[in-house]
Amino acid sequence: MKELEELFENNRQWAQSTVAGDPEFFKKLSRLQTPEYLWIGCSDSRVPANQLIGLAPGEVFVHRNVANVVVHTDMNCLSVMQYAVEVLNVKHIIVCGHYGCGGVKAALEGDSFGLIDNWLRHIKDVYRMHQQDIDAQPTEQAKLDVLCEKNVIEQVANVCTTSIVQNYWRAGNELTVHGVIYALDSGLLKSLDVEVSGPEQLCITHILK
Ligand code: CO
Repeated sequence: MKELEELFENNRQWAQSTVAGDPEFFKKLSRLQTPEYLWIGCSDSRVPANQLIGLAPGEVFVHRNVANVVVHTDMNCLSVMQYAVEVLNVKHIIVCGHYGCGGVKAALEGDSFGLIDNWLRHIKDVYRMHQQDIDAQPTEQAKLDVLCEKNVIEQVANVCTTSIVQNYWRAGNELTVHGVIYALDSGLLKSLDVEVSGPEQLCITHILK
């Protein structure tokens, strides 16, 4: 436990200062969470969901994995989505990628890292779908940037085509799925102009092209 002493001390200070600002903060949170957002992002330590969108505990439900991939048979991600949508009734699902993503880079460069290669295979599929656009980029950096963006767009499509979201929309509920990307070197989020609020938009947006 000694190695974590600093972390425990940080935690005590954080809890103290939070209570100093709002004595009821943790008591209220312990009874109920009512987040409006589900965040699906990369596990990268430089992309902390709450911090970069300025939300407090209780305000965003979070799922993170390597390279923010949504796989239709991933029970972990699907369970998070189902709980967030059907039980917490989040109004927005945000798929957030980031430039310079190590997972995307590994998929693009074709290096082998062991078991994770099977996970990265999903990103290689994204590359295959957008190979023309990506190969047309003038530099390796630009190729990586475009694949990071295309990966977000394809994961938005994957979210929208899950039975969870399809059935939720079919029942007349409001839910919007957004695609955004984060720049590590500026700390800024950028919209990829992908916003899907119903099944009819899936055929007119470019995301299923
Ligand atoms: Co990443």
